[in-house]
Amino acid sequence: MNYDIKTTELAAVGKQRIDWANRFMPVLDSIRARFENERPLDGLSVAACLHVTTETANLMKTLKAGGAEAVLCASNPLSTQDDVAASLVVDEGIGVFAINGEDTETYYKHIDATLDLQPTITMDDGADLVSRLHSEETNPALVEQVVAGTEETTTGVIRLKSMAAEGVLKYPIIAVNDARTKHFFDNRYGTGQSTLDGIIRATNLLIAGTTVVVAGYGWCGRGVASRARGLGANVIVTEVDALKALEAVMDGFRVMPMQEAVQEAGLVVTLTGDIHVLRKEHFEAMKDGTIIANSGHFNVEIDIPVLEKLSVDKQLARPYVDAYTLEDGRKLYLVGEGRLVNLAAAEGHPASVMDMSFANQALSLEYIAKNHDNFENRVYDVPESIDEMVAQLKLQAFGVEIDTLTDEQVKYLNSWEMGT
Ligand code: NAI
Repeated sequence: MNYDIKTTELAAVGKQRIDWANRFMPVLDSIRARFENERPLDGLSVAACLHVTTETANLMKTLKAGGAEAVLCASNPLSTQDDVAASLVVDEGIGVFAINGEDTETYYKHIDATLDLQPTITMDDGADLVSRLHSEETNPALVEQVVAGTEETTTGVIRLKSMAAEGVLKYPIIAVNDARTKHFFDNRYGTGQSTLDGIIRATNLLIAGTTVVVAGYGWCGRGVASRARGLGANVIVTEVDALKALEAVMDGFRVMPMQEAVQEAGLVVTLTGDIHVLRKEHFEAMKDGTIIANSGHFNVEIDIPVLEKLSVDKQLARPYVDAYTLEDGRKLYLVGEGRLVNLAAAEGHPASVMDMSFANQALSLEYIAKNHDNFENRVYDVPESIDEMVAQLKLQAFGVEIDTLTDEQVKYLNSWEMGT
Protein backbone atom coordinates (compact mmCIF):
# COMPACT_ATOMS: atom_id res chain seq x y z
CA MET A 1 0.00 0.00 0.00
CA ASN A 2 1.31 3.46 -0.92
CA TYR A 3 0.95 6.44 1.37
CA ASP A 4 2.67 9.70 2.26
CA ILE A 5 1.93 11.04 5.73
CA LYS A 6 3.85 12.87 8.43
CA THR A 7 4.40 9.85 10.69
CA THR A 8 2.78 6.52 11.51
CA GLU A 9 3.61 7.01 15.20
CA LEU A 10 0.51 9.09 15.89
CA ALA A 11 -1.85 6.24 14.92
CA ALA A 12 -3.02 5.42 18.45
CA VAL A 13 -3.97 9.04 19.21
CA GLY A 14 -5.72 9.26 15.85
CA LYS A 15 -7.70 6.09 16.47
CA GLN A 16 -8.90 7.32 19.84
CA ARG A 17 -10.12 10.58 18.28
CA ILE A 18 -11.74 8.80 15.31
CA ASP A 19 -13.64 6.52 17.72
CA TRP A 20 -14.76 9.56 19.74
CA ALA A 21 -16.13 11.22 16.59
CA ASN A 22 -17.91 8.00 15.69
CA ARG A 23 -19.92 8.20 18.93
CA PHE A 24 -21.57 11.31 17.43
CA MET A 25 -22.10 9.79 13.99
CA PRO A 26 -24.91 7.25 14.55
CA VAL A 27 -26.37 7.62 11.05
CA LEU A 28 -23.08 6.89 9.32
CA ASP A 29 -22.44 4.11 11.82
CA SER A 30 -25.73 2.40 10.93
CA ILE A 31 -24.96 2.75 7.21
CA ARG A 32 -21.54 1.18 7.82
CA ALA A 33 -23.15 -1.81 9.57
CA ARG A 34 -25.50 -2.33 6.62
CA PHE A 35 -22.67 -1.88 4.10
CA GLU A 36 -20.65 -4.58 5.88
CA ASN A 37 -23.44 -7.06 5.17
CA GLU A 38 -24.52 -5.93 1.73
CA ARG A 39 -21.17 -4.75 0.25
CA PRO A 40 -22.86 -2.35 -2.22
CA LEU A 41 -19.55 -0.76 -3.24
CA ASP A 42 -17.79 -4.00 -4.17
CA GLY A 43 -15.48 -3.48 -7.13
CA LEU A 44 -15.40 0.34 -6.92
CA SER A 45 -12.17 2.25 -6.45
CA VAL A 46 -12.64 5.64 -4.82
CA ALA A 47 -10.20 8.56 -4.81
CA ALA A 48 -11.30 11.03 -2.13
CA CYS A 49 -10.00 14.59 -1.78
CA LEU A 50 -11.50 15.71 1.54
CA HIS A 51 -10.34 17.42 4.74
CA VAL A 52 -8.41 14.71 6.59
CA THR A 53 -10.35 14.85 9.87
CA THR A 54 -11.77 12.32 12.32
CA GLU A 55 -15.18 12.51 10.61
CA THR A 56 -13.65 11.86 7.19
CA ALA A 57 -11.86 8.84 8.67
CA ASN A 58 -15.24 7.40 9.65
CA LEU A 59 -16.50 7.98 6.11
CA MET A 60 -13.45 6.21 4.66
CA LYS A 61 -14.05 3.27 7.01
CA THR A 62 -17.65 3.13 5.76
CA LEU A 63 -16.56 3.04 2.11
CA LYS A 64 -14.15 0.23 2.88
CA ALA A 65 -16.86 -1.66 4.79
CA GLY A 66 -19.04 -1.33 1.68
CA GLY A 67 -16.40 -3.08 -0.40
CA ALA A 68 -14.70 -0.11 -2.07
CA GLU A 69 -10.98 0.28 -2.38
CA ALA A 70 -10.36 3.85 -1.24
CA VAL A 71 -7.50 6.34 -0.97
CA LEU A 72 -7.52 9.83 0.50
CA CYS A 73 -5.70 13.11 -0.04
CA ALA A 74 -6.30 16.51 1.55
CA SER A 75 -8.62 19.16 0.12
CA ASN A 76 -6.68 21.89 1.90
CA PRO A 77 -2.98 22.01 2.87
CA LEU A 78 -3.72 23.21 6.41
CA SER A 79 -6.68 21.03 7.41
CA THR A 80 -4.96 17.63 7.68
CA GLN A 81 -4.93 16.04 11.12
CA ASP A 82 -1.70 14.03 11.01
CA ASP A 83 -2.82 11.59 13.72
CA VAL A 84 -5.95 10.76 11.72
CA ALA A 85 -3.88 10.15 8.59
CA ALA A 86 -1.65 7.81 10.64
CA SER A 87 -4.54 5.77 12.01
CA LEU A 88 -6.13 5.36 8.57
CA VAL A 89 -2.86 3.96 7.25
CA VAL A 90 -1.90 1.82 10.24
CA ASP A 91 -5.25 0.64 11.60
CA GLU A 92 -7.43 0.63 8.49
CA GLY A 93 -4.97 -0.07 5.68
CA ILE A 94 -6.24 2.95 3.73
CA GLY A 95 -3.69 4.84 1.61
CA VAL A 96 -3.48 8.51 2.68
CA PHE A 97 -1.48 11.23 0.94
CA ALA A 98 -1.62 14.29 3.19
CA ILE A 99 0.65 16.17 5.54
CA ASN A 100 -0.46 19.19 7.55
CA GLY A 101 1.21 22.34 6.22
CA GLU A 102 2.31 20.76 2.92
CA ASP A 103 3.40 23.23 0.23
CA THR A 104 1.44 23.72 -2.98
CA GLU A 105 3.67 21.39 -4.98
CA THR A 106 3.22 18.56 -2.45
CA TYR A 107 -0.51 19.26 -2.27
CA TYR A 108 -0.88 18.59 -6.01
CA LYS A 109 1.61 15.70 -5.92
CA HIS A 110 -0.67 14.11 -3.32
CA ILE A 111 -3.77 14.63 -5.47
CA ASP A 112 -1.91 12.95 -8.35
CA ALA A 113 -0.90 10.08 -6.07
CA THR A 114 -4.56 9.17 -5.48
CA LEU A 115 -4.99 8.87 -9.25
CA ASP A 116 -2.50 5.99 -9.28
CA LEU A 117 -5.42 3.93 -7.95
CA GLN A 118 -7.11 4.51 -11.35
CA PRO A 119 -10.32 5.50 -9.57
CA THR A 120 -13.77 4.76 -10.89
CA ILE A 121 -15.31 7.25 -8.44
CA THR A 122 -14.07 10.62 -7.17
CA MET A 123 -15.13 12.41 -3.99
CA ASP A 124 -14.25 16.08 -3.88
CA ASP A 125 -14.47 19.01 -1.49
CA GLY A 126 -13.81 21.98 -3.76
CA ALA A 127 -13.48 20.12 -7.09
CA ASP A 128 -9.66 19.92 -7.08
CA LEU A 129 -9.65 16.22 -8.00
CA VAL A 130 -12.09 16.75 -10.87
CA SER A 131 -10.04 19.73 -12.11
CA ARG A 132 -6.86 17.69 -11.95
CA LEU A 133 -8.46 14.80 -13.87
CA HIS A 134 -9.66 17.24 -16.54
CA SER A 135 -6.31 19.05 -16.86
CA GLU A 136 -4.11 18.61 -19.89
CA GLU A 137 -1.23 17.44 -17.72
CA THR A 138 -3.16 14.34 -16.61
CA ASN A 139 -3.26 11.14 -18.66
CA PRO A 140 -6.65 11.35 -20.50
CA ALA A 141 -7.21 7.60 -20.03
CA LEU A 142 -7.71 8.23 -16.30
CA VAL A 143 -10.76 10.45 -16.66
CA GLU A 144 -12.31 8.03 -19.15
CA GLN A 145 -12.62 5.28 -16.55
CA VAL A 146 -14.32 7.42 -13.89
CA VAL A 147 -18.04 6.59 -13.82
CA ALA A 148 -19.15 9.40 -11.48
CA GLY A 149 -18.17 11.59 -8.56
CA THR A 150 -19.53 13.51 -5.60
CA GLU A 151 -18.94 17.09 -4.44
CA GLU A 152 -19.09 18.21 -0.82
CA THR A 153 -19.08 22.03 -0.87
CA THR A 154 -20.79 25.10 -2.36
CA THR A 155 -17.68 26.37 -4.14
CA GLY A 156 -17.06 22.96 -5.74
CA VAL A 157 -20.65 22.71 -6.96
CA ILE A 158 -20.37 26.18 -8.53
CA ARG A 159 -17.15 25.19 -10.32
CA LEU A 160 -18.64 21.89 -11.55
CA LYS A 161 -21.87 23.47 -12.77
CA SER A 162 -19.85 25.94 -14.81
CA MET A 163 -17.83 23.04 -16.30
CA ALA A 164 -21.10 21.25 -17.17
CA ALA A 165 -22.56 24.45 -18.70
CA GLU A 166 -19.48 24.79 -20.93
CA GLY A 167 -19.83 21.13 -21.94
CA VAL A 168 -16.40 20.17 -20.61
CA LEU A 169 -17.42 17.99 -17.67
CA LYS A 170 -16.44 14.45 -18.61
CA TYR A 171 -18.38 12.50 -15.99
CA PRO A 172 -21.48 12.99 -13.81
CA ILE A 173 -21.33 14.46 -10.33
CA ILE A 174 -23.75 14.27 -7.42
CA ALA A 175 -23.86 17.60 -5.56
CA VAL A 176 -23.88 16.36 -1.96
CA ASN A 177 -23.67 19.98 -0.78
CA ASP A 178 -27.10 20.68 -2.21
CA ALA A 179 -28.87 17.98 -0.18
CA ARG A 180 -31.04 19.71 2.41
CA THR A 181 -29.66 17.46 5.14
CA LYS A 182 -26.23 18.80 4.16
CA HIS A 183 -26.27 22.56 3.67
CA PHE A 184 -29.17 23.39 6.04
CA PHE A 185 -27.12 21.89 8.87
CA ASP A 186 -23.43 21.52 8.00
CA ASN A 187 -23.03 24.92 6.34
CA ARG A 188 -25.20 26.74 8.89
CA TYR A 189 -24.72 25.08 12.29
CA GLY A 190 -21.39 23.37 11.55
CA THR A 191 -19.66 26.38 10.01
CA GLY A 192 -21.44 28.72 12.40
CA GLN A 193 -20.01 27.06 15.48
CA SER A 194 -16.64 25.87 14.19
CA THR A 195 -15.67 29.17 12.56
CA LEU A 196 -15.99 30.93 15.89
CA ASP A 197 -14.30 27.96 17.56
CA GLY A 198 -11.29 28.39 15.25
CA ILE A 199 -11.08 32.13 15.84
CA ILE A 200 -11.46 31.76 19.60
CA ARG A 201 -8.85 28.98 19.84
CA ALA A 202 -6.39 31.02 17.77
CA THR A 203 -6.92 34.41 19.45
CA ASN A 204 -8.72 33.80 22.77
CA LEU A 205 -10.92 36.75 21.76
CA LEU A 206 -13.94 37.58 23.92
CA ILE A 207 -16.77 37.69 21.40
CA ALA A 208 -19.16 39.46 23.80
CA GLY A 209 -19.07 43.16 23.08
CA THR A 210 -16.97 42.75 19.92
CA THR A 211 -18.23 44.20 16.66
CA VAL A 212 -18.15 41.22 14.30
CA VAL A 213 -18.55 41.85 10.58
CA VAL A 214 -19.83 38.80 8.67
CA ALA A 215 -19.34 39.00 4.89
CA GLY A 216 -21.96 36.90 3.07
CA TYR A 217 -25.37 35.94 4.47
CA GLY A 218 -25.66 32.57 2.74
CA TRP A 219 -25.90 29.31 4.66
CA CYS A 220 -22.50 29.68 6.30
CA GLY A 221 -22.77 33.41 6.97
CA ARG A 222 -26.16 33.00 8.63
CA GLY A 223 -24.69 30.41 10.95
CA VAL A 224 -21.75 32.58 11.98
CA ALA A 225 -23.90 35.70 12.38
CA SER A 226 -26.42 33.95 14.63
CA ARG A 227 -23.76 32.19 16.74
CA ALA A 228 -21.74 35.41 17.13
CA ARG A 229 -24.89 37.21 18.26
CA GLY A 230 -25.55 34.38 20.71
CA LEU A 231 -22.14 35.00 22.24
CA GLY A 232 -22.93 38.69 22.69
CA ALA A 233 -21.34 40.24 19.60
CA ASN A 234 -22.62 43.34 17.87
CA VAL A 235 -22.99 41.78 14.39
CA ILE A 236 -22.88 43.64 11.07
CA VAL A 237 -23.63 41.77 7.84
CA THR A 238 -22.36 42.71 4.37
CA GLU A 239 -23.99 41.32 1.21
CA VAL A 240 -24.24 41.83 -2.55
CA ASP A 241 -27.59 40.03 -2.92
CA ALA A 242 -30.62 42.22 -2.13
CA LEU A 243 -32.76 39.31 -0.86
CA LYS A 244 -30.10 37.95 1.45
CA ALA A 245 -29.41 41.48 2.70
CA LEU A 246 -33.11 41.98 3.38
CA GLU A 247 -33.23 38.68 5.24
CA ALA A 248 -30.31 39.82 7.40
CA VAL A 249 -32.09 43.11 8.13
CA MET A 250 -35.26 41.27 9.18
CA ASP A 251 -33.22 38.82 11.25
CA GLY A 252 -32.22 41.92 13.18
CA PHE A 253 -28.68 42.53 11.95
CA ARG A 254 -27.19 45.81 10.81
CA VAL A 255 -26.37 45.67 7.09
CA MET A 256 -24.02 48.10 5.35
CA PRO A 257 -21.25 48.21 2.73
CA MET A 258 -17.93 46.69 3.75
CA GLN A 259 -16.20 50.06 3.48
CA GLU A 260 -18.35 51.37 6.36
CA ALA A 261 -18.44 48.11 8.29
CA VAL A 262 -14.66 47.72 8.58
CA GLN A 263 -14.38 51.09 10.32
CA GLU A 264 -16.26 49.65 13.32
CA ALA A 265 -14.99 46.07 13.18
CA GLY A 266 -13.10 44.22 15.88
CA LEU A 267 -13.34 41.00 13.86
CA VAL A 268 -14.14 40.48 10.18
CA VAL A 269 -15.03 37.02 8.83
CA THR A 270 -15.58 36.27 5.14
CA LEU A 271 -17.89 33.41 4.04
CA THR A 272 -18.86 34.25 0.48
CA GLY A 273 -17.10 31.87 -1.92
CA ASP A 274 -16.07 35.10 -3.71
CA ILE A 275 -12.72 36.75 -4.43
CA HIS A 276 -11.18 39.83 -2.73
CA VAL A 277 -14.09 40.57 -0.46
CA LEU A 278 -11.55 42.28 1.80
CA ARG A 279 -9.12 44.37 -0.21
CA LYS A 280 -6.83 47.42 -0.19
CA GLU A 281 -9.41 50.11 0.62
CA HIS A 282 -10.79 47.97 3.45
CA PHE A 283 -7.40 47.31 5.07
CA GLU A 284 -6.70 51.04 4.85
CA ALA A 285 -9.91 51.83 6.76
CA MET A 286 -9.57 49.20 9.52
CA LYS A 287 -8.89 50.07 13.14
CA ASP A 288 -5.63 49.09 14.80
CA GLY A 289 -5.94 45.54 16.13
CA THR A 290 -8.68 44.30 13.79
CA ILE A 291 -8.74 40.52 13.49
CA ILE A 292 -9.42 39.10 10.02
CA ALA A 293 -10.42 35.54 9.16
CA ASN A 294 -11.94 33.58 6.30
CA SER A 295 -14.15 30.50 6.40
CA GLY A 296 -15.03 30.34 2.70
CA HIS A 297 -13.52 27.51 0.69
CA PHE A 298 -10.50 29.16 -0.94
CA ASN A 299 -7.97 31.57 0.52
CA VAL A 300 -8.88 34.24 -2.02
CA GLU A 301 -11.60 36.07 -0.10
CA ILE A 302 -9.00 38.22 1.66
CA ASP A 303 -6.52 39.87 -0.73
CA ILE A 304 -3.45 38.68 1.16
CA PRO A 305 -0.88 39.70 -1.51
CA VAL A 306 -2.12 43.31 -1.18
CA LEU A 307 -2.05 43.08 2.62
CA GLU A 308 1.56 41.91 2.34
CA LYS A 309 2.38 44.88 0.08
CA LEU A 310 0.75 47.41 2.41
CA SER A 311 2.69 46.03 5.37
CA VAL A 312 6.13 47.05 6.58
CA ASP A 313 6.41 44.09 8.93
CA LYS A 314 4.85 40.64 9.46
CA GLN A 315 5.34 38.63 12.65
CA LEU A 316 3.76 35.54 14.16
CA ALA A 317 1.69 36.98 17.02
CA ARG A 318 0.51 33.55 18.27
CA PRO A 319 0.20 30.16 16.59
CA TYR A 320 -2.17 30.62 13.61
CA VAL A 321 -2.14 34.44 13.94
CA ASP A 322 0.04 36.69 11.76
CA ALA A 323 0.42 40.35 12.78
CA TYR A 324 0.75 42.67 9.78
CA THR A 325 2.09 46.15 10.61
CA LEU A 326 0.97 48.85 8.20
CA GLU A 327 3.04 51.96 7.38
CA ASP A 328 1.21 54.12 9.93
CA GLY A 329 1.87 51.57 12.69
CA ARG A 330 -1.59 49.96 12.78
CA LYS A 331 -1.55 46.20 13.22
CA LEU A 332 -4.02 43.84 11.51
CA TYR A 333 -4.17 40.22 12.63
CA LEU A 334 -4.80 37.51 10.02
CA VAL A 335 -5.93 34.12 11.36
CA GLY A 336 -4.99 30.80 9.71
CA GLU A 337 -3.30 32.43 6.69
CA GLY A 338 -6.75 33.30 5.34
CA ARG A 339 -7.60 29.63 4.83
CA LEU A 340 -10.84 28.16 6.18
CA VAL A 341 -10.32 29.11 9.79
CA ASN A 342 -12.46 26.35 11.30
CA LEU A 343 -10.21 23.70 9.77
CA ALA A 344 -6.90 25.58 9.92
CA ALA A 345 -7.17 26.66 13.56
CA ALA A 346 -9.67 24.15 15.00
CA GLU A 347 -10.98 20.70 14.12
CA GLY A 348 -13.58 21.58 11.50
CA HIS A 349 -17.24 20.85 12.01
CA PRO A 350 -18.42 18.83 14.99
CA ALA A 351 -18.93 15.14 14.18
CA SER A 352 -22.67 15.21 14.83
CA VAL A 353 -23.27 17.50 11.85
CA MET A 354 -20.77 15.73 9.59
CA ASP A 355 -22.79 12.60 10.37
CA MET A 356 -25.46 13.86 7.99
CA SER A 357 -23.10 15.23 5.33
CA PHE A 358 -21.14 12.00 5.17
CA ALA A 359 -24.25 9.81 5.34
CA ASN A 360 -25.26 11.63 2.14
CA GLN A 361 -21.81 10.91 0.68
CA ALA A 362 -21.96 7.18 1.50
CA LEU A 363 -25.54 6.78 0.25
CA SER A 364 -24.75 8.77 -2.90
CA LEU A 365 -21.93 6.35 -3.66
CA GLU A 366 -24.32 3.42 -3.26
CA TYR A 367 -26.73 5.22 -5.60
CA ILE A 368 -23.92 5.75 -8.13
CA ALA A 369 -22.97 2.07 -7.92
CA LYS A 370 -26.52 1.09 -8.86
CA ASN A 371 -27.37 3.80 -11.39
CA HIS A 372 -24.29 5.24 -13.08
CA ASP A 373 -25.10 3.67 -16.44
CA ASN A 374 -28.11 5.98 -16.71
CA PHE A 375 -26.30 9.25 -15.91
CA GLU A 376 -25.31 12.06 -18.28
CA ASN A 377 -22.24 14.25 -17.79
CA ARG A 378 -23.84 16.87 -15.57
CA VAL A 379 -24.35 17.81 -11.94
CA TYR A 380 -27.16 15.88 -10.21
CA ASP A 381 -28.97 16.53 -6.94
CA VAL A 382 -28.86 13.92 -4.21
CA PRO A 383 -32.11 11.92 -4.64
CA GLU A 384 -34.83 13.18 -2.31
CA SER A 385 -35.29 9.66 -0.90
CA ILE A 386 -31.71 9.78 0.43
CA ASP A 387 -32.22 13.24 1.93
CA GLU A 388 -35.39 12.05 3.70
CA MET A 389 -33.76 8.86 4.92
CA VAL A 390 -30.85 10.80 6.44
CA ALA A 391 -33.28 13.18 8.20
CA GLN A 392 -35.34 10.26 9.57
CA LEU A 393 -32.28 8.40 10.81
CA LYS A 394 -30.89 11.55 12.47
CA LEU A 395 -34.20 12.24 14.21
CA GLN A 396 -34.25 8.64 15.43
CA ALA A 397 -30.74 9.07 16.77
CA PHE A 398 -31.87 12.17 18.67
CA GLY A 399 -34.82 10.12 20.00
CA VAL A 400 -37.30 12.53 18.42
CA GLU A 401 -40.59 11.26 17.01
CA ILE A 402 -42.83 13.26 14.69
CA ASP A 403 -46.41 13.08 13.49
CA THR A 404 -47.51 11.39 10.28
CA LEU A 405 -50.25 12.65 7.98
CA THR A 406 -53.72 11.13 8.51
CA ASP A 407 -55.51 9.73 5.43
CA GLU A 408 -57.78 12.75 5.56
CA GLN A 409 -54.80 15.11 5.57
CA VAL A 410 -53.13 13.32 2.66
CA LYS A 411 -56.35 13.70 0.67
CA TYR A 412 -56.74 17.36 1.66
CA LEU A 413 -53.19 18.25 0.75
CA ASN A 414 -53.50 16.56 -2.65
CA SER A 415 -56.83 17.90 -3.81
CA TRP A 416 -57.87 21.34 -4.95
CA GLU A 417 -61.60 20.73 -4.48
CA MET A 418 -61.38 20.48 -0.68
CA GLY A 419 -60.51 24.16 -0.30
CA THR A 420 -62.90 25.07 2.50
P1 NAI B 1 -24.03 30.60 -0.25
O1 NAI B 1 -24.06 30.68 -1.72
O2 NAI B 1 -25.21 30.09 0.50
O3 NAI B 1 -23.68 32.06 0.36
C1 NAI B 1 -22.69 32.90 -0.12
C2 NAI B 1 -23.21 34.34 0.09
O4 NAI B 1 -22.14 35.27 -0.13
C3 NAI B 1 -24.33 34.70 -0.90
O5 NAI B 1 -25.46 35.16 -0.18
C4 NAI B 1 -23.71 35.80 -1.75
O6 NAI B 1 -24.65 36.78 -2.17
C5 NAI B 1 -22.69 36.40 -0.80
N1 NAI B 1 -21.60 37.15 -1.46
C6 NAI B 1 -20.97 36.85 -2.62
N2 NAI B 1 -20.04 37.80 -2.89
C7 NAI B 1 -20.09 38.68 -1.85
C8 NAI B 1 -19.36 39.88 -1.55
N3 NAI B 1 -18.41 40.35 -2.36
N4 NAI B 1 -19.67 40.52 -0.39
C9 NAI B 1 -20.65 40.08 0.44
N5 NAI B 1 -21.37 38.96 0.19
C10 NAI B 1 -21.08 38.27 -0.94
O7 NAI B 1 -22.73 29.73 0.12
P2 NAI B 1 -22.40 28.99 1.51
O8 NAI B 1 -22.92 27.62 1.48
O9 NAI B 1 -22.71 29.90 2.62
O10 NAI B 1 -20.80 28.85 1.35
C11 NAI B 1 -19.93 29.97 1.40
C12 NAI B 1 -18.49 29.50 1.26
O11 NAI B 1 -18.15 28.69 2.39
C13 NAI B 1 -18.23 28.62 0.03
O12 NAI B 1 -16.93 28.89 -0.43
C14 NAI B 1 -18.31 27.21 0.59
O13 NAI B 1 -17.66 26.28 -0.21
C15 NAI B 1 -17.66 27.41 1.93
N6 NAI B 1 -17.96 26.44 2.97
C16 NAI B 1 -17.07 26.39 4.00
C17 NAI B 1 -17.24 25.51 5.03
C18 NAI B 1 -16.25 25.44 6.12
O14 NAI B 1 -16.12 24.38 6.73
N7 NAI B 1 -15.57 26.51 6.44
C19 NAI B 1 -18.40 24.58 5.06
C20 NAI B 1 -19.35 24.78 3.99
C21 NAI B 1 -19.11 25.68 2.98
